[in-house]
Amino acid sequence: MAKSKTVYVCSSCGADSPKWLGKCPVCGEWNSYVEEIVATKQQQPHGGSLSSGAKQKPLRINEIEEGREIRIDLKDNELNRVLGGGLVKGSMVLIGGEPGIGKSTLLLQTALRLDGVRILYVSGEESMSQLKMRASRLGIENGDCYIVCDTSLESVCTHIKNISPQLVIIDSIQTISSDMLESSAGSVSQVRECAAAILRVAKENDIPVMLIGHINKEGSIAGPKVLEHIVDTVLQFEGDRHYMYRVLRSIKNRFGSTSELGIYEMRQNGLREVENPSELLLSQSHEGMSGVAVAVAIEGMRAFLIETQSLVSSAVYGTPQRSATGFDSRRMNMLLAVLEKRVGFKLAQKDVFLNIAGGIKANDPAMDLAVISAILSSNTDIAIETGICMTGEVGLSGEIRPVNRIEQRISEASKLGFRRMIIPANNIKGEELRKFAIEVVPVRRVEEAFRQIFG
Ligand code: TYD
Ligand code: MG
Repeated sequence: MAKSKTVYVCSSCGADSPKWLGKCPVCGEWNSYVEEIVATKQQQPHGGSLSSGAKQKPLRINEIEEGREIRIDLKDNELNRVLGGGLVKGSMVLIGGEPGIGKSTLLLQTALRLDGVRILYVSGEESMSQLKMRASRLGIENGDCYIVCDTSLESVCTHIKNISPQLVIIDSIQTISSDMLESSAGSVSQVRECAAAILRVAKENDIPVMLIGHINKEGSIAGPKVLEHIVDTVLQFEGDRHYMYRVLRSIKNRFGSTSELGIYEMRQNGLREVENPSELLLSQSHEGMSGVAVAVAIEGMRAFLIETQSLVSSAVYGTPQRSATGFDSRRMNMLLAVLEKRVGFKLAQKDVFLNIAGGIKANDPAMDLAVISAILSSNTDIAIETGICMTGEVGLSGEIRPVNRIEQRISEASKLGFRRMIIPANNIKGEELRKFAIEVVPVRRVEEAFRQIFG
């Protein structure tokens, strides 16, 4: 095989150079050079030349036959649901998550459960014996699951051709590298080229692929954003390593909705599906405690249930203290002013502390209603019933303003076991309310919300 050429291309302006450069001399951008393979006549990783004959003829949209996607039942209700009803044949799924959260466990367990489906599990992180130990820990036997420990893209493609599996699992995409590129495994160009090559093999043979991806410090999947663009589905596996619960969310799904989530519990013998998610909430009960309200907020693509805590005490000094952790303090002051005007909260005599639990920084304006409810709850020393959550932006005149993606919020709240949810009245019409599994209470003004919450 002739040695292929690679060049470094500036991802900002497209200038190229035979060597890596820290600063682009053309556009002045820093750290923008990535390695790319130059297509030669014999090896054309990116398709043929312009004039070569087209393989497909364009069709009118009404001439195209609607095909139903074939789905593989993964024998795991949570995973099936998050994927939108099973794994679509020929699709590529990326699962991201922090180290040690259980990504390898989840996929190995899934592979072992799929009796009768030929599976190729490629591990670039663990040795055969480590995988065998994990499999015996999981306690499942499967004669159709092939394991290979390899990190070279070329041999992975050969294994796929030789074994012709019905499902390929790659653990992880960051450990796979191609000989054609000089840069090390896990670099932007390696991740992109390897994912694209595996995708090509998978689409040609109609084999579904599940990739494990590392995430970086900011919590997004390490490597290029293009990785998220080329795959069909992106799942995020998350949770606190010190607790046993893990949440699997779909961030992108070409074959289903992204508002689904799956919940697991990490046990001694693998991950157990959690059918009744309110188990999760009962373990961190704040029953009878005043100053706690649960908000349903959306951060990025995902809906979260966020516990908002507040403490209101009598001010001892001339100027009352105001402190907010994880919430904009100017916005808190505005909400306090609304409270003073609407329910006679005596601003000048009270210290107010606000804390968003879990060290999260909440920017969603829909947090407002929970913030003022928590403050009022602490001030009056009346606890908000557990099982109630709320969402809504509060306007200056005390009106509850509509929020975006209300259905996603409601489905998250009901999935997590809440009974009742206070929402802005403008978000949903009367007849739609009944279709939800939880009691949805529309309100127009803060006074009305407080009547609903505090009775
Ligand atoms: P792992 O799947 O290796 O995480 P990742 O691939 O995301 O890095 O999970 C590792 C953790 O899970 C490890 O700390 C041990 C724990 N674990 C269990 O608690 N029970 C089990 O049955 C298994 C296999 C792992
Ligand atoms: Mg792993």
